[in-house]
Amino acid sequence: MKLIISNLKMNLTLEEIKSYIQQLNEIKCQRNKLIVCPSYPYLSYFNGKNYSLGSQNVASEKMGAFTGEVSIEQLTSLGIHYVIIGHSERRTHLKEDSDLIRKKLSLCFDYDVIPILCIGENLEEKEKRTEVLKSQIDSALQGLKLKDIILAYEPVWSIGTGFIPTREEIKNTLDWMKKYMKSHYSIECKVVYGGSVNPRNIESLNQIEEIDGYLIGGASLKIEELKRIIEVLEVEK
Ligand code: PGA
Repeated sequence: MKLIISNLKMNLTLEEIKSYIQQLNEIKCQRNKLIVCPSYPYLSYFNGKNYSLGSQNVASEKMGAFTGEVSIEQLTSLGIHYVIIGHSERRTHLKEDSDLIRKKLSLCFDYDVIPILCIGENLEEKEKRTEVLKSQIDSALQGLKLKDIILAYEPVWSIGTGFIPTREEIKNTLDWMKKYMKSHYSIECKVVYGGSVNPRNIESLNQIEEIDGYLIGGASLKIEELKRIIEVLEVEK
């Protein structure tokens, strides 16, 4: 069972999302778990049974006077149990730091929402990536009582660029992440890969046993591409 997480980011109009949903509802995803993360306003339009919904973000405060924010309680009241936290676009453009990320993670654990915590090195940090990942994991998780969590390894230089690490690099990094979570946090957590996943590289990526799933941006916007990726993963190996 692989996790297939589609991150639609800030894309698609209402008309486009309606047609997307129609086609999405027809996709067969039985052996794997599909989690679709649209923009907030569209969450309640999704009505299919073959996938779960996730949010791209959540407020770091519980409730109240925070204009423009969406709270964890509002998300759970919509039946949402997955939230992407700490995506590199939010870290970079919205200056999200580890204190903020930790607050969001803590709320997720309080409300039994499964966070999808994104971590990854930028191009200059490529050769010392385990150091970078270790610091991102520790600064996000320190002092928290951990519950279920999904880690997404997304090298920043791979997001939306068409470049991906070698299979060997992904394998070693994911293996290191799993072992680190086990030895330092005593949990077996799922680790997904994200960054330029598409129908052309999915077969090759699918040979890496350490990958528990994929976080897919650009390719998930085109329903045909998402469908093709799912079809590849649905085939029994
Ligand atoms: P991408 O985005 O698939 O377009 O590289 C992945 C992500 O940002 O999660």
